[in-house]
Amino acid sequence: MKQYLKIDEWSIIEESFDPQTQEISESVFSIGNGYMGGRANFEEQYSGHSLQGSYMAGVYYPDKTRVGWWKNGYPEYFAKVLNSTNWIGINIELDGTPLDLAACTVSQFRRVLNMKEGTLSRSFTATLEDGKEVQVESIRIVSMARHEIGAIRYSIIPVNFAGQLTITPYLDGDIKNKDSNYDEKFWNEVEKKSEAEGGYLTLKTKKLDFHVTSAFAYDILVNGEKLTTTPEAIEQEKYVASKVSLAVQAGDQVVIYKYAANVTSRNYGLGQLVDAAHTALNSAREAGFVTLLTEQAAAWGDKWKESDIIIEGDVSAQQAIRFNIFQLNQTYTGEDDRLNIGPKGFTGEKYGGSTYWDTEAYCVPFYLSTADSTIARNLLIYRYKHLEKAKENARKLGFKKGALYPMVTMNGEECHNEWEITFEEIHRNGAIAYAIYNYVNYTGDKAYLGQYGLEVLVEISRFWEERVHYVPRKDQYVMLGVTGPNEYENNVNNNWYTNRIAAWTMEYTLEALAYLQENESSRYAELADKLELVESETAQWNEIISKMYYPSDEELGIFLQQDGFLDKEIIQVKDVLPENLPLNQKWSWDRILRSCFIKQADVLQGLYFLGDRYDLDTKKRNFDFYEPITVHESSLSPCIHAILACELGYKEKAYEMYLRTSRLDLDNYNNDTEDGCHTTSMAGTWMSIVHGFGGLRVQADRLILKPSNPGHWTSYSFKIMFRGSRLKVIVTDLQVTVVNETDVPAALTIHGKEYTVNGLSSVTAEGTPVTA
Ligand code: BGC
Repeated sequence: MKQYLKIDEWSIIEESFDPQTQEISESVFSIGNGYMGGRANFEEQYSGHSLQGSYMAGVYYPDKTRVGWWKNGYPEYFAKVLNSTNWIGINIELDGTPLDLAACTVSQFRRVLNMKEGTLSRSFTATLEDGKEVQVESIRIVSMARHEIGAIRYSIIPVNFAGQLTITPYLDGDIKNKDSNYDEKFWNEVEKKSEAEGGYLTLKTKKLDFHVTSAFAYDILVNGEKLTTTPEAIEQEKYVASKVSLAVQAGDQVVIYKYAANVTSRNYGLGQLVDAAHTALNSAREAGFVTLLTEQAAAWGDKWKESDIIIEGDVSAQQAIRFNIFQLNQTYTGEDDRLNIGPKGFTGEKYGGSTYWDTEAYCVPFYLSTADSTIARNLLIYRYKHLEKAKENARKLGFKKGALYPMVTMNGEECHNEWEITFEEIHRNGAIAYAIYNYVNYTGDKAYLGQYGLEVLVEISRFWEERVHYVPRKDQYVMLGVTGPNEYENNVNNNWYTNRIAAWTMEYTLEALAYLQENESSRYAELADKLELVESETAQWNEIISKMYYPSDEELGIFLQQDGFLDKEIIQVKDVLPENLPLNQKWSWDRILRSCFIKQADVLQGLYFLGDRYDLDTKKRNFDFYEPITVHESSLSPCIHAILACELGYKEKAYEMYLRTSRLDLDNYNNDTEDGCHTTSMAGTWMSIVHGFGGLRVQADRLILKPSNPGHWTSYSFKIMFRGSRLKVIVTDLQVTVVNETDVPAALTIHGKEYTVNGLSSVTAEGTPVTA
C-alpha cells in the first residue's frame, strides 16, 4: 500500500509523476457518465506501463470460454464490455521527437480529479532528451449533460526553444481488451473518413454486430488566434487522424480543443450513426469548451445536491466518501434499463464489466436513497427482462421449474465458468429477490409487485423449492453442495445464509401474493394464470419455510456458516503472521479451503439483510465469532461489518472497517487498484455511513434513524430521498437535525421517537450516542 494521493475535500490530487503508480492512477482518476467512460490515460503518447481503456456501456463481446476442464453446464462465452475507440488521443511531436512522459524528465506534475465539477486535469513540465522543455496543461471531461460527448482542452508551451510542433489528434480503434481470452481483437472496421479539422470512424464487433461511431473535431489556437493550417489527413486501418505542423517560438501558447462524440447501434439504426455522431459533435463544438465545462459543473452540482455526504473534522474520510459517491454516479445514471453496474465500472477490465449480485446486494440501496426511484427501479427491471434467460439457465442445469439468475451476466445468460461458483453460488438468486423487497419497502411502490416483481419472486421461489430436499430422518429440508458468499469454502452443505435467504424468498413471495390477491385481485388472477401458479406449490413453500434446516451451535449461540464449520481449526486473523496475508496471494487454494478464514460477510450478510428479525444479542454473538476470522479479501466485506459494528456499538471496529472500505482504492489496500476501482463496493462505503453510522432503516413505511457519531468526526451529514422528500440528516455529538429540503413532509423516527418534518423545515432530536 502506497499512499501518494494528496488529501483534499473535493479533489483527488497527485503531485508528482511516478511510472510505478501510473496504472493505479489511471484507475483512480477515471471519468465517465454512465453511458461511457475511461481510464485516466494521457492524451499524448505514453510508452510506459499503461492500460489504455475507453468503454461504452452495454457494448460487449461474447469471448469464447477458456477453461482447462469443461463441465456440462458451463457457458459458451464470457461477455466483456469492450475496450473501444481511443477518442482522447492527441500526439505531440517536437521537432520530430514524440512527447512521451516515459522518455522525459518530468520536473513538475500535477493531476487532479475535481469531483465537484467532474473534470480531470493535468499539468506538467517535461524535458526531452535533447533538452527541450515544454509546459502542458490539459483538462478533460466526459459530459454528464451530453452523454455522447467527451472534450479536451490541451495547452502546450515550448519553454526554451523555437521549433516545429506537430499535433496529431486522432481516433484509434485498433484496440484490444487486456482480458481477451484468446489474445484476439474484437473489432472490425466499417468505415472511416478524415475530414476538415477532424474525422470519424465506425467499428463493429466481430460478433453480435454492435456498431460504434466515433467522430472528432478540433480547434487549435496559437496565442489566442485560431490556426487555419490545412492538416495532413491520415487514414490507417481502424485509425483516423489530422496532423498539423506549425513553427513555434519559446513562450508561445498552443491550445488544442478536441471534441469527440461516440454513438452506438444500441441507440441508433446503423444508417444513422455517422449523422448522429456529427450532430452531437457539431453541437458540442459550437457550444464550445467553456460552455461544456459550465454544463458539466451544473450537472455534477445536481448530483451532489442529491447525494453528497459531508464529514467535518476528517478530510481524509471526507475525500474518501466523495470519491466513492463520485464513482457511483459516473458509473450508472439509470436512464437505460438495459445497463447495469460492473464491479469495476469504467475503470478497468477485470470482471468484464458484467453484472454480479453486487448490484442488488450493495448498489440498489445507494441509488434508492440518492436518486429518483426510477433509477433503482431500472436496475430491477433489468433483471425482470432477464427472467426468461434465468429460467433457461435453470433448465440447462436440470431444474424442472424456476429461475436461476446467473452469477455473472451481460444479457441474462450465465458467463461465469468455475463450477463451484457458477453452479453452487446460488445465493445470488436470493439477493435479486431481496432487492425487490428493498425497493418496495423503501419506496412504498407496491404496484411494482404486480407489474414486475412477483413474476421474478415466484420463479426464484420455485427454484429454491426444487433445490432443497427433504430429509425424513431430520424431518427437515436441507440444501447440499453450495458456495455461500464466502468463496473461501466451496461445495458445503447447508450454508446458513443460503438456506436462510431461500426460505426468506419464499416467505416474501407468499406475502407478495397475498398482498396482490387482496389489493389487486384481477392482476393477481392474471398473474396466477400466466405463472400457472397452483396451490400445492405455495403449500410446499410454507412447508419448506417451517421445516428449513439451519445449522447452529447452541453452546456458542451462533448460526453455523455450514454444517461442518466447527470441525475446522478456529484461528483468529490476528494470529496469522502478516506475511501470510492476503491469503489469496500467499496460500494454496487447498489451504484456504480447509482453513476457517472467511473472505467476506456470510452469516453476517444474512444478519444485515434480515436485521429486523434478529435481536442484538444474536447479532453480537455471531459478529464476535465471525469477524475475528474474516480476512475481508473481498472489497464487499468491510462495509457489512462496519454496519453491524455500528449497530453493536463497536466504535473502533466500525471506524476501522469504514476506513478500509472507503479508502480501498485511494490507498490501494488490496494492492490491485491498477486493475480498476472496486466500484460496486463503493456503494457499500456509502451504506456504512448511512446504514451504519446513520442507522437508517425503513420499517412499516417509516424512515428510522439511529445516528451515532463514530467519534473521529466533529459532525457529518448525508442526503436521502425518501418518498418524495429530500432530507439532509446532520449528526453532531449532541444532536441529530433533519432538514427537509423539499415541500413534501416526511414522517420519521429518530432514536425511537417519532417526528414529522414538514416541507422546507427541520426537526432536531437531542442526544446522539457516540457509538459506545
Ligand atoms: C466476491 C463476490 C463478488 C465479486 C465481484 C468476488 O471477489 O467474492 O461476492 O460478487 O467479487 O465483485
